[in-house]
Formats: sequence, structure tokens, C-alpha cells
Amino acid sequence: MVHAADPLRRYWHPVAEGREVAAGPLGVTLLGERIVLFRSAEGVRAFRDACVHRGARLSSGRVDGNGCLVCPYHGWSYDGGGRVVRIPSLRRTDAPIPTRAQATVYRATERHGLVWVALDEPLLPIADFPEYTDPAYRTFVSVNAPLATSAGRYTDNGLDISHFPFIHPGALGDNDDPVTPEYEIIATPVGFTYSYRRLEQAGHFSAARAAVTSVTQQHVPFTRRRVLTAPRGHSVQFITAQPIDDLRCRVFAIEAIDHSAEVPTDKFIAFTAALLEQDRAIVENQTPLYLDTDPGAELHMRVPDAVGLAYRRSLREAGIARA
Ligand code: FES
Ligand SMILES: [Fe+2]
Repeated sequence: MVHAADPLRRYWHPVAEGREVAAGPLGVTLLGERIVLFRSAEGVRAFRDACVHRGARLSSGRVDGNGCLVCPYHGWSYDGGGRVVRIPSLRRTDAPIPTRAQATVYRATERHGLVWVALDEPLLPIADFPEYTDPAYRTFVSVNAPLATSAGRYTDNGLDISHFPFIHPGALGDNDDPVTPEYEIIATPVGFTYSYRRLEQAGHFSAARAAVTSVTQQHVPFTRRRVLTAPRGHSVQFITAQPIDDLRCRVFAIEAIDHSAEVPTDKFIAFTAALLEQDRAIVENQTPLYLDTDPGAELHMRVPDAVGLAYRRSLREAGIARA
């Protein structure tokens, strides 16, 4: 259960790809709230997914030619501001539409190809992703997938380096060399940054083991932008998670690459998708499925788990006890 005072309500969260909100409405769930997304004449909109009349699901309705959302039950129409502007069952001579005939409207915007919603006044802006609009980069969505774990557990997995040799041998890690590389963590106003160098595994994107520098900017609560710099160029991953509730999330990964024009995009997508499936086997089976940010809740090793500790600390300092 997610209750009304959940501090996560005060952040922007991704809820869909922009292209998924096309002709019709789309129902999504964020922090336990059912939300309907649609495109009004002014752009993407997010309302509580329950009609003010009898509580029918607005996401089962349709968007009319004026960009109004029409309830499936009695056909009331909502404009982009959430006001009911038409009640078909009223006679022309009937009383005007009451001012209470108004949807609960949430903040919604589009950025980096995703639709973002904040349930309450957001504390931080949406994380930057400058490569997304840089013409030197090819960009693509590599993951849009549900996971049966919390957004906090998934994000912690994505930040964790020391699992690579065990869960991603041959792709990200080397079973014969499980020692975590030295890395540096720097606190930032929106979370923290950490960086390290490693030799990549041969065979995937280059024949030799190239040296890669990895710099990750973690943005409270569930977004990271990772820049991998190798001799061939830059690979940037913008990975974020929608907290559906405290036991389920949806992962969105967008990548930007300024090299290897000869490698088809599908190959990059398959590489990232395979990593996610390897992680899924772990993160859907951790106990508990939510992340407890209290440092006493788990056992931490000072060096390999320093990023995990920094992540828990950044959430705790934002008043987030569970994620
Ligand atoms: S429940 Fe929506 S119009 Fe009646
Ligand atoms: Fe992983």
C-alpha cells in the first residue's frame, strides 16, 4: 500500500513513452494511483482515472475530435484542464454544468521521449539528458518493461557494480576477476555521481578489450544517466523506473551512441535487453521486494557497497524510508 503522504509523490516519474499516448487514452498506475493519460489540444494530460460522475475508468473512454476525453459510461467530456464541458444527457434548457464537475489533474510533461507525471509539487526537475537532442548521437529506446520488484530495488541493482561478474559474466564482468574496481563518489544537489575505469569484455562491440571510463549521475529517486567513454566514442544510457506501487515498477532505458554507425540499433537493444533479463531473475526474488533505506536493514561492505550506501543515504536524506 502506498499512502497519501508518500514522499515519492513529490518527484517526477516516467509513466509511458510519448508515442504510447497517441490517438486514445492510456491507463497507467503511479504510486498506487490509477491515472489516465491522453493528448488534449494543448499536449499530454494526466487525470485521476475515475470519472467524477460515477467513478468509471476514463482510460476506457475515447478522445474526441476536439481533444476532449469522453467517459465511456454516460459520455461526459473533459477538456484539457479537466473541466466537464459536455453532459450529453442534459437538455439544452437544463441548468449549467456544476463547477464541481472537474477531474483531479496531475502535472504532466514530455521529456526525452517519455511522459512524466508528478502527483504533488515536485522537489527536483527531471534529470538532464543532453545527448537526446544532440544530432551527433543516434538515440533509441532499449527497454520499456515491467518488473515485479520495487523501483528502489531495481535502481539499486543498476547502480551496483560488484554483481557484474556473477550475473553478467562475459558481458559486463569477468568471473576470474570479481574484485570491484576503485571508484569515486561525489555528492551532488540531486543525488550523487560515481566513476571508475574498467576493461570491457571482448567480442561484443570491439575485438580487443578496450578501456572504458564509466561516469554515472544518480538523480533522486530512480533515474541515472551513465556515460561510457571508450576509444570508439560515447555510449550514454538514461535509465529510469516508474514506481507502479511499492512492489512493481516499469523500467525505461533510452540510449544515445555517437559511434559504430555500422552496428544495427537492434544489436544494442538486444544487448541491453539481455542484461535486464539476467537482472530480473535476481531483483524479482529479493526479500523484501522494497528497498529499506535504513543502513541497519542489510549488511554492507564498505568498499564494494559504497555506491549502494550512497544511494540509500540520498533517499533517506530526501525523507524516503522505503523505495
Ligand atoms: S461515470 Fe462518467 S459519465 Fe457517468
Ligand atoms: Fe545487472
